[in-house]
Amino acid sequence: MMNKNSFISIALFCIIFYLPPLQAQKEIYLDVNQSIDKRIESALEKMTLEEKVAMCHAQSKFSSKGVPRLGIPEIWLSDGPHGIREEVLWDEWSTAKWTSDSCTAFPALTCLAATFNTQMSLLYGKSIGEEARYRNKAVLLGPGVNIYRTPLNGRNFEYMGEDPYLASRMVVPYIQGVQQNGVAACVKHFALNNQEVYRMGVSVEVSDRALREIYLPAFKAAVEEGNAWSIMGAYNKFRGEHCCHNDLLLNKILKGEWAFDGVVVSDWGGVHNSDQAVNNGLDLEMGTSTNGMTSKSTSTYDQYYLANPYLKGLKSGKYSEQILNDKVRRILKLIFRTTMSANRPFGKFVSPEHSAAALQIAEQGIVLLKNNKHLLPIEVGKYKKIAVIGENATRSMTVGGGSSKLKVVSEVSPLQAFIAKYGADHIIYSQGYSSGPSKYGKEIPSTLNADSLIAVAVEVAKNADLILYVGGLNKNHLQDCENGDRKSMDLPFGQDKLLTALLTANKNIAVILISGNAVAMPWVNEVPAIVQAWYLGSEAGNAIANVFVGDVNPSGKLPFSFPKKLEDNAAQFFGKDSYPGDGIIENYKEDILVGYRWFDTKKIAPLFAFGHGLSYTTFEYGKITTDKTIYAGNETVKLRFSIKNTGKVKGAEAAQVYISDVKSSVLRPMKELKAFSKVMIEVGESKQVEINLPVKDWAFFNDKTKLWVIEPGKFTIMIGSSSDDIRQSLSVNVVGS
Ligand code: BGC
Repeated sequence: MMNKNSFISIALFCIIFYLPPLQAQKEIYLDVNQSIDKRIESALEKMTLEEKVAMCHAQSKFSSKGVPRLGIPEIWLSDGPHGIREEVLWDEWSTAKWTSDSCTAFPALTCLAATFNTQMSLLYGKSIGEEARYRNKAVLLGPGVNIYRTPLNGRNFEYMGEDPYLASRMVVPYIQGVQQNGVAACVKHFALNNQEVYRMGVSVEVSDRALREIYLPAFKAAVEEGNAWSIMGAYNKFRGEHCCHNDLLLNKILKGEWAFDGVVVSDWGGVHNSDQAVNNGLDLEMGTSTNGMTSKSTSTYDQYYLANPYLKGLKSGKYSEQILNDKVRRILKLIFRTTMSANRPFGKFVSPEHSAAALQIAEQGIVLLKNNKHLLPIEVGKYKKIAVIGENATRSMTVGGGSSKLKVVSEVSPLQAFIAKYGADHIIYSQGYSSGPSKYGKEIPSTLNADSLIAVAVEVAKNADLILYVGGLNKNHLQDCENGDRKSMDLPFGQDKLLTALLTANKNIAVILISGNAVAMPWVNEVPAIVQAWYLGSEAGNAIANVFVGDVNPSGKLPFSFPKKLEDNAAQFFGKDSYPGDGIIENYKEDILVGYRWFDTKKIAPLFAFGHGLSYTTFEYGKITTDKTIYAGNETVKLRFSIKNTGKVKGAEAAQVYISDVKSSVLRPMKELKAFSKVMIEVGESKQVEINLPVKDWAFFNDKTKLWVIEPGKFTIMIGSSSDDIRQSLSVNVVGS
């Protein structure tokens, strides 16, 4: 029998001599107090070749392997970019039928861009990041920053418009907001994925100058300023090589020039070649089918280009382990930044704060395009009978659209919100047109009779004091939806015919367009009020109704131009060769003249210009001043001006600063956005705006020398309420370079 004293001695012996060694055995990679780099090396040295390769490709639709033996967790990824997608089955796209995954839908990224407010971007990122964290995702597949090049692109709604500066400023806070939750943002689709037609194979040909000035800046800002922890390669090719394994884009520019230290994730099924995937900068291969390609197959994930073929090549000496280690280091870094980080908060899901954030972003992004005779706002009680007409008044816009589709906890429709504001007794609804159900990759026409729908709507319109028309596009195939482009810029489903008929019955009409793209408006002159309302997410109806009754003064600005007709748009102007290409090659012939750069320079008047957006009040811009008149290329202009609210309600104005290089050795756009500032101003109040403009940002990219160049000479600085409403300007001189 052990006596008490010897028991205590043994216990003490254990504590002194046994426990400390146990503690000292704690592996460095598990120790959150160690630097990430040390943790990476400690994990890497313990891993077998097989374990390393297993980390470089998918194990299910939305996850990749960790190292179970070492307690290193799997990576779970989720779409993105407007909410956290519902869970799908391991190997299939169909729903996993969870009951706990209905999320908050935030407004589409076109709406976020339209807020012209970086604070909204931070709020967006923080909120969606919290939802992703709560759902245990390590990677959020978003935001998207492909440039709006044509109004036909089915995925424009997932991006931030046509201007590289606007997209750059808006993408950075989104990423920071997401990542402060210990969730990696995955910026997509890198790069030049500006259309859905031929997206899997078309090779984009574009000059270095347009690449650097137009298509790359938002990705560069995402990496260098946003410090994005992952990026997704695009489906298309660039100069003959698929973007998911494009040496120039991934190795040279992203990882070389921009020193990206995160993970390059392929788009799902975007990998086509093991040699290129191994050597050209891809780190993690994800797939649409179980063989990593887009067709159905009974093979397993082991067949992926970065799976067995990779392992085989490593074993035979074809591929170097050094490159594999670089991939694995990046993947481990992502894990240590997210799931294995000590600083990871716990997240929140469908919280009241998230609804409030979704509402605020939606309200700030709604754009008042036209408002003749102050038709809006429409106070409660002003009209006895209001006809709400149009399918989009009741249609869910979180369903459909492709990978960004969401299962939401709630989505307030415009009709519901109008009824709540104006009272059920004052609202009568008529569908007016019908689009048919939403199905991925398939257009299913409506079976309802279009003429009867119009006839009923016209009767309703005749007897109403006001029409609130809610139309636009939707998330059906060949509308605003992945995997297809629109067939034309016209409103679909017979809406132009319907609107023309409604106008003969009642001209007191406000048109609310729900879309992520510009539409043609043959009826524009006859309609007194038009509102661009995007896809607004869970709080859609509330945001629209708040603007309509005047509780919210609209302050959104267009993040892309609305052409009068499709052929006016730069990409279309040059014919099929320029858009959509022939399936093999596509030449971006408009070069740097994208969006308003084209309309301005070519003196083609758009229907509504980039940056346009009215308010219920009026703003007067004061005189613009700078601290000096002559600047060196490395100096910063300190710009000052005042904005006065000269109307009757408080409101916010997104003031825009454009520059123009008066004389240049190369073609430069008439105007380029270089700054913006959104300020809330009380009635009668005047606010000072101060903006710093680094002269180096006015450079152009010289295609021959491959350098950014500032040519000495005169530059005009313009401030305005939109790209075609410049209120003040002055010139400064730049000396030296
Ligand atoms: C889309 C990506 C998306 C992925 C996963 C792809 O088809 O292009 O944007 O994140 O699917 O759903």
